[in-house]
Amino acid sequence: TWSMETFIDDTVAKLKEQIGDKRVLCALSGGVDSSVVAALIHRAIGDQLTCVFVDHGLLRKGEADSVMRTFADHFRMNVVKVDARERFLDKLKGMEDPEQKRKIIGNEFIRVFEEEAEKLGKHHFLAQGTLYTDIVESGTETAQTIKSHHNVGGLPEEMEMDLVEPVNTLFKDEVRKVGEELGLPKEIIWRQPFPGPGLGIRVIGEVTEEKLEIVRESDAILREEIQKAGLDREIWQYFTALPDFKSVGVMGDARTYAYTVGIRAVTSIDGMTADWARIPYEVLERISNRIINEVDGVNRVVYDITSKPPATIEWE
Ligand code: XMP
Repeated sequence: TWSMETFIDDTVAKLKEQIGDKRVLCALSGGVDSSVVAALIHRAIGDQLTCVFVDHGLLRKGEADSVMRTFADHFRMNVVKVDARERFLDKLKGMEDPEQKRKIIGNEFIRVFEEEAEKLGKHHFLAQGTLYTDIVESGTETAQTIKSHHNVGGLPEEMEMDLVEPVNTLFKDEVRKVGEELGLPKEIIWRQPFPGPGLGIRVIGEVTEEKLEIVRESDAILREEIQKAGLDREIWQYFTALPDFKSVGVMGDARTYAYTVGIRAVTSIDGMTADWARIPYEVLERISNRIINEVDGVNRVVYDITSKPPATIEWE
């Protein structure tokens, strides 16, 4: 049977042995998996670890700052923050197809990371937060991948680094327990699932800064109200998405023509199937009112009442 204490001790010992006096590079995303990996490796080899945090501009409100606060300030890890927001926006210009957007974001991420790695000098190892479930879900077993998960598939050849994947035998709940034991903050441990391509696939169609801002702000309101209502643990994942159309509304005695925000909130065990969450009407009402009043460019809010299947959780 699996015990968290033994896992941490064994893993730290193995990492020390495997890494020796060499250097390790880790891409930090702010999610629980890469965070636990960073914390584990840091415990094993300290300053031989360098983390790279790519700010691609597709994170949720406040997320980039919070990641830097946690790892650089609190854990005193070497964390290099790369501001790549413009690069990603440029690459996404004119792109409307969901799969193409995913590929662009995934490729650009690797490119930015490689460039940074080159600047930082030779590192022998690359750390990744691959979970046991990532390996199974990415189409090694099923012939078809529904949506390409961009963090699996190995490294580009020219990077020539050995992989360190210390949590690739673990399930999510086990990773959380390890993270708790390592002293990671609750908001990272219990962070709801967040896709690698981030808000890039929650802005439907072409991604622009204006649309990203609407998703970021409306999503922050949704998260705050769900938390206040005490629903954040029972709803598995909740976020807003921005469909690529405007509709007519009225404000005072003037006609408006503005965006619609979609709220997605689901209950689920593992994300493979899901049901829409029965959020109380009063909570939905507060969320809707706040989004309309506080987010510029929005005149309508809708709630997604589809299960998975037939819909997916994300809208792209
Ligand atoms: P769907 O939309 O396929 O999502 O029902 C199932 C779960 O997977 C997340 N998701 C992703 N996670 N990279 C990720 O790391 C991705 O490209 C990706 N696409 C979807 C989604 O947020 C949900 O939790």
